[in-house]
Amino acid sequence: MTASQEAVELYTLTNANGMEARIMTYGGTVVSLKVPDRHGKFGDVVLGYETLDGYLKNSPYFGAIIGRYGNRIGKARFSLNGKEYTLPKNNGENTLHGGLKGFGTVVWKGKEVKSKDGIGLSLSYLSKDGEEGFPGNLTVTVVYTLTNNNELKIDYTATTDKATVVNLTNHSYFNLAGEGGILNHELIIDASRFTPVDSGLIPTGELRSVKGTPMDFTQATVIGARIDQKDEQLTAGRGYDHNWVLNNGTGRLALAARVYEPGSGRVMEVHTTEPGLQFYSGNFLDGSITGKGGQVYKQRYGLCLETQHFPDSPNKPAFPSTILKPGQRYKTTTIYKFSAK
Ligand code: GLA
Repeated sequence: MTASQEAVELYTLTNANGMEARIMTYGGTVVSLKVPDRHGKFGDVVLGYETLDGYLKNSPYFGAIIGRYGNRIGKARFSLNGKEYTLPKNNGENTLHGGLKGFGTVVWKGKEVKSKDGIGLSLSYLSKDGEEGFPGNLTVTVVYTLTNNNELKIDYTATTDKATVVNLTNHSYFNLAGEGGILNHELIIDASRFTPVDSGLIPTGELRSVKGTPMDFTQATVIGARIDQKDEQLTAGRGYDHNWVLNNGTGRLALAARVYEPGSGRVMEVHTTEPGLQFYSGNFLDGSITGKGGQVYKQRYGLCLETQHFPDSPNKPAFPSTILKPGQRYKTTTIYKFSAK
């Protein structure tokens, strides 16, 4: 039950290999994700709480669906068709992850679905016209599918009755070792540019080459190798908290990133139709949260790979558009694929 007495359901999806995803209707949250290591031993690779209460009281978006607009909108406002819309400020001067009542804090309607790909959970939510300042009644469906190829596939769709902006993602914090820090994880991001940010983490509008900078993950690199370098971008984010411009700009599904954890051998690939990827290295975790299994989540104990359109696109006409009009259908897909080596 939420504070407003809404019932919350928890679904368990299991595939033919024993991989298991648990997802709840509060926030459409991925609560646990059990995947095998190189010896076939299952471990939970996402951060979170053991009880609903933790999520209700204080969650830095653990596993949640993020919307209506994932990431930041600068100065908490934007104009559309000559009209200015004002949003709640929940991150300094800016709006982060949809505002105070983002999609990660509402109860979705859940329904188990079966497809040729595997077993799934369909979640739907109607975000009313004016909710958190955004125009248009937005009907959103997010389908999580657990396939027999050890993939957690997420299909996002939305329609609106008034022009609006939409940017949906998932905010799972991954730790492929299942515990400890993520600085030993190796990362590849298929992006030769990123969107540099100001001190409030709002993109300046520039698409900057990663070459010769700590943002270059075109070759597999240990996350901790450069994270504490003296670099104006890393200082702004207290580590990695930036959007990469994926080389695949086609809108078709393609590999965006690969993570490898040498201790367990676990590998996670991220495939997406989206043009951008926010890599957040869990810099704001500070040991104040005790999560599953009594683990104290210290700084950089989880990493997020949030597939998305670029932050602040509503105020950056040169960025790929996040506008959705009546009659159009928003449709994106992201796959988190697990293996071990
Ligand atoms: C995002 C942001 C980060 C931080 C986390 C939540 O990914 O980019 O700056 O706010 O969410 O703590």
